Amino acid sequence: MTTAAPPSQDILKPHLAIDGGHSLQGELKVSGAKNSALVLMTASLLTAERLTLHNVPPLTDIDGMENILVSLGVKVHRRSETVELEASHLTSAEPPYDLVNGLRASFFAIGSILARMGYAKVPLPGGCRIGARPVVEHIRGLKALGASVSVEHGVVTAAVPGEGKRLKGASIVLDCPSVGATETILMAATLAEGTSVIENAAQEPEVQDLANLLNAMGARITGAGGPTITIHGVEALHGCEYSVILDRIEAGTFLLAAAITRSRLRVAPVVPEHLNAVLQKLRDCGCELEIDGDGITITPGTIKGVDITTQPFPGFPTDLQAPFMALLATASGTSVITEKIYENRMQHVAELQRMGAAIRIQGSTAIVEGVPSLSAAPVNGTDLRAAAAMVLAGLVARGSSQVSGLNHLDRGYAGIEAKLRACGAVLERHLP
Ligand code: EPU
Repeated sequence: MTTAAPPSQDILKPHLAIDGGHSLQGELKVSGAKNSALVLMTASLLTAERLTLHNVPPLTDIDGMENILVSLGVKVHRRSETVELEASHLTSAEPPYDLVNGLRASFFAIGSILARMGYAKVPLPGGCRIGARPVVEHIRGLKALGASVSVEHGVVTAAVPGEGKRLKGASIVLDCPSVGATETILMAATLAEGTSVIENAAQEPEVQDLANLLNAMGARITGAGGPTITIHGVEALHGCEYSVILDRIEAGTFLLAAAITRSRLRVAPVVPEHLNAVLQKLRDCGCELEIDGDGITITPGTIKGVDITTQPFPGFPTDLQAPFMALLATASGTSVITEKIYENRMQHVAELQRMGAAIRIQGSTAIVEGVPSLSAAPVNGTDLRAAAAMVLAGLVARGSSQVSGLNHLDRGYAGIEAKLRACGAVLERHLP
């Protein structure tokens, strides 16, 4: 095994040491969806009764959301992948900046805090590495529902005018189908007086999951999963037990782990319809896919270049752009990958180049010339999905790579090294 000498500062960072070139076999198990679980947890703020969520992945982002809810007075009990949340006595409508900063999904709680307490004061989540990510649409939606909203000193203050009054149903056309804005407005409108309609709504499965949970809690929502969602407001919601949907992005990452190592693998459990755009691209680049019940078995052939443009669901997900690029870096031929959702989600390119990938960037497009092999290097995952891309590249690169950026990776991939190791990958975590 050849070991690339890491610069001294990289050896000091927590990293995964990955010995590339081993084929994988068996089955990779998919956890509950991070982006769903986070928002479903905030729905607990809408009722005084207990909400029990199953299939919640053990991730640092979930720990972060737990801390935020606890700061508002929610009682949280976690046992394995079950989380019980009881918001019978909320003590605050103001999650603190140091908890909200860095966990964007926590901002979406502004909708449920406002609907339940008539007032909310939530710090702006701020920019992040992949783009500016404004919350203009979330705020516009709350205003349409009758809230008075002001933004000052980096904090959004929203209030329902009039003592003991409720938000009022309204029609809202989103400027862009923002997932978070749709979820924020959905939660707020659930307890509003009258009917609300969200047009140009996000159609992501996580939005549908939130609507399903809210309906199980007594809400009256139709159309989620499509571009128009109708919400008939109700006076109160009740508790329930609910299981979070499966993580389509983790599932996609695992299919790519099989493809990049040219290994036949089963990935389960999955909802194949949540992955249609990704499965299509895998087929286009030469993988055979067999869907059986709740799993997908992938048999990679000779991987050829394909073109990808990221889009809102049901288009190709931005969250798999970096991992798919790692695969295409090893394909035969040229691929053109265009990022349409975030203005700064190409930082993995420089890291892949360090491993020998031949990629040029032109604006928001990456032109990837496949190379016969990647070579191991110390690399940094600059955001969650970039870190996943580095792990994939490390699995196939010649030699031993050190992938840092584990603080990002641990936000979205529960026990990734144990899962990969169980299928034959050779990797271990170093915490210097
Ligand atoms: N946008 C606006 N104005 C707004 C809101 C959004 O221009 O008021 C833009 C954003 O700047 C971005 C695009 O719309 O360019 C999409 O943003 P969206 O609001 O849909 O994203 P989000 O709700 O903040 C969720 C996921 C992201 C995922 C996106 C897109 C959660 C917690 N996060 O973010 O997940 O990339 O939807 O599918 O649900 C990840 O898991 O790695 C991740 C970043």
